[in-house]
Amino acid sequence: MSQAPHPAGAAANSPAAFTSALPSYLDPNNLGPWGIYLQQVDRVAPYLGNLARWVDTLKRPKRTLIVDVPIHLDDGSIAHFEGYRVQHNTSRGPGKGGVRFHQNVTLSEVMALSAWMSIKNAAVNVPYGGAKGGIRVDPRQLSIGELERITRRYTSEIGIIIGPTKDIPAPDVNTNEQVMAWMMDTYSMNEGSTATGVVTGKPVDLGGSLGRREATGRGVFTVGVEAAKHTGMDISKARVAVQGFGNVGGVAGKLFAEAGAKVVAVQDHGGTIYREAGLDVPSLLAHVSRVGSVAGFPQAEVIANDAFWDVPCDILIPAALEQQITEANAGRIQAKMVIEGANGPTTPQADDILHERGILVLPDVIANAGGVTVSYFEWVQDFSSFFWSEDEINERLVKIMKGAFAAVWHVAEENKVSLRTATFIVACKRILHARDLRGLYP
Ligand SMILES: NC(=O)c1ccc[n+]([C@@H]2O[C@H](COP(=O)([O-])OP(=O)(O)OC[C@H]3O[C@@H](n4cnc5c(N)ncnc54)[C@H](O)[C@@H]3O)[C@@H](O)[C@H]2O)c1
Repeated sequence: MSQAPHPAGAAANSPAAFTSALPSYLDPNNLGPWGIYLQQVDRVAPYLGNLARWVDTLKRPKRTLIVDVPIHLDDGSIAHFEGYRVQHNTSRGPGKGGVRFHQNVTLSEVMALSAWMSIKNAAVNVPYGGAKGGIRVDPRQLSIGELERITRRYTSEIGIIIGPTKDIPAPDVNTNEQVMAWMMDTYSMNEGSTATGVVTGKPVDLGGSLGRREATGRGVFTVGVEAAKHTGMDISKARVAVQGFGNVGGVAGKLFAEAGAKVVAVQDHGGTIYREAGLDVPSLLAHVSRVGSVAGFPQAEVIANDAFWDVPCDILIPAALEQQITEANAGRIQAKMVIEGANGPTTPQADDILHERGILVLPDVIANAGGVTVSYFEWVQDFSSFFWSEDEINERLVKIMKGAFAAVWHVAEENKVSLRTATFIVACKRILHARDLRGLYP
């Protein structure tokens, strides 16, 4: 880990310690995803020129809220859950980022996800800072009533820092349009007026945007096609392996299959399936929506979860959770291109191994930015109460994704750096330039 609690030789209260110390609320020996993010920032620092003097702004979240979320369970007992909302940076606009319900959510994870949102929003140049939230709960263990109560109580607790001009949540792992509808309603009830712009990813009948549900997967597909043009890969002949077949992985898999690619392997929390001739993606999606997992899909072979990493393929799309591609499996991956649908799926060590092996990585901070781009469209439509057609939305999305990807590709070539570092260069310069223009208050 490059980040020590205090720089070597710096006394605890010296200026050097003040600028570089880790927050006391993290364990320096177990930094988790936040440690990965810090290493990524360290890699970009040499490219920031005069703006480097602001770099520590990126190394600490602006605001971190931890809340207790008590609810009545259906059996009459009371259960308490841990909830978070972290606003990493708001130099370029209000905080923006999803809410995750997962039993392993930690503060370090939410901090890292909020920071990746700052980078992503700046990379596609939407006028937002970065934020993220989560509750440490396995929602599969909750009834629908319990899920609604936990969502509403959490929204009320974080209500003091969110709002249409302050911080706008959205769906992430295990949260969906219904959860967003409850969040919007709870916030609106507390405010005394309907505030559709407080969350994005809402149902279309409540001010949601057409195309939002598919937007992240569509962005993953768009950058994949653009990268394939640069590298000479024929998408219509590509074999694709997808980890995570939810909102992001499911839509990305569907679009690649529609473009003629073969989706040969899919893994989710229930298991891993394989079919050399290509899976029937529409049937698999129907199976997942019926059963909740790819497990039990009849027209495929079941393989061991660990064997997923050895599958012969051209494109690998991690679209589940963080830290899936590690030192342990990066050497086994057969793909020529990895498109990060998930946030933070590749550790920095694995990134280096993939780079040395000539495997092109399209990093999360640009590859999965399609979701927040259409969230931005949703927010704009809510403010103007004027809604666009799906074609208009998809057209604008593809235009932004292509433009942002081309800029990142150019910076990578110019500086001879990875696409991840190039995306960080573009984004960090935008964030820190905004910080520089605004100056420090007071
Ligand atoms: N939804 C969005 O708009 C959006 C936008 C940007 C990034 N992301 C990121 O994409 C990733 C997936 O998000 P989503 O919205 O598709 O979530 P989702 O809940 O719709 O799907 C998650 C998928 O991951 C699978 N999964 C969970 N644990 C797993 C495990 N241990 N091994 C293999 N698979 C596992 C689940 O079975 C499911 O198929 C997350 O990293 C999220 O932060 C989502």
